[in-house]
Amino acid sequence: MNKVKYIFLIPLLIVLLYSLTSKSKTKSEILRNDIIDVVSILKKAEQQLSLQVLQADKENRIPRTVTENGDMYWANSKFDWTEGFFPGSCWYMYEYTNNEDWKVTAEKYQALFESHKYITTNHDLGFVFNCSFGNGYRITEDEVFKQVLIEAANSLSTRFNSSVGCLKSWDVNGGWQSKRNWKFPVIIDNMMNLELLFLVSEITGNPKYKKIAIAHANTTLANHFRENNSSYHVVDYDPETGQVRSKQTAQGFADGSSWARGQAWGLYGYTVCYRYTKDKAYLEQAQKIAKYILHNNAIPKDGIPFWDYDADNIPNEPRDVSAAAITLSALIELDEYTSQSYLSTINNLIKSLASNDYTAPIDENQNFILMHSVGSIPHNNEIDVPLNYADYYYLEALVRYQNRYW
Ligand code: GLY
Repeated sequence: MNKVKYIFLIPLLIVLLYSLTSKSKTKSEILRNDIIDVVSILKKAEQQLSLQVLQADKENRIPRTVTENGDMYWANSKFDWTEGFFPGSCWYMYEYTNNEDWKVTAEKYQALFESHKYITTNHDLGFVFNCSFGNGYRITEDEVFKQVLIEAANSLSTRFNSSVGCLKSWDVNGGWQSKRNWKFPVIIDNMMNLELLFLVSEITGNPKYKKIAIAHANTTLANHFRENNSSYHVVDYDPETGQVRSKQTAQGFADGSSWARGQAWGLYGYTVCYRYTKDKAYLEQAQKIAKYILHNNAIPKDGIPFWDYDADNIPNEPRDVSAAAITLSALIELDEYTSQSYLSTINNLIKSLASNDYTAPIDENQNFILMHSVGSIPHNNEIDVPLNYADYYYLEALVRYQNRYW
């Protein structure tokens, strides 16, 4: 009788043992079979980026996109919000390969715009310096890079207005921005400039940069998002009172629509805010934005969004690969912080982006890695083209994926 009892106990013990051991496994270990081998994807990307470096070396300029004729379009050497991405891509290649040549190339190209650290008329210093010198500092801890980051953060901080609680995105005394009747426009993209401020507070021990970043993130949380967690592109404020004057778009389909890259900037931005503060409100916002993106009816099966989720001619609208690459990289980080797994979406995006539909053949596409991004349709600029930032966030995502899951 006793023997029979023990026989019944054996399966129970096995189940108990299994559940105890599987509890100590991470999400990624449980899903090990689902992990994509990204080595061949990274090798191909390295081949293409190496060819682009040869091209850039002839001109000593930074590739940005291609012209309508298919020629290379170089970043504006006076200042270009995209200038940090090319050296940033080289830093990711250095991190991945450990080949010193990539470090030398990254240093050479970021040196071209080092003096822009003093610019105070543009909010994009976060993009420019965090993606270049920031990655360089993360990988090498070079003191010279640290000083550059501090200068850039000081310049960016001058754009903070305490009545509004935000960094000003665009100056309105010139260019197309002067025609929109804005006083203090803040764009969702500006969430991406906060990483520089968080980083500089961390490396200097001075909390003032982080305080600005937190204020900006909180004001944006209060005013940029709709009930369904999509975001407006531009919120304009009264710089004296901090009151919201209008909620509009600049690069999206309509004021009330959801510009695809804007949603990606928000997702990435709040994920970074959570990394540096561990404030649950930021994590929840990132999860809500992810939900909005992933459950959107306008998302095609391959996960690569149209340029605006509400564009009126879907499915006959251009895709925006840059939005997909930013979303992918953000989701890989967000997946670390949540019990919910984003791995199936992450894998779907990697498979799509690495396919011939979006990855250019070697030695074509002016040696950009990815095709089919959109700069700004309302400005009739950079439509269905490669963009250096699509490549940058794609490489970041691949290296993050490799570091995290392998
Ligand atoms: N921050 C500019 C853009 O996303 O186009």
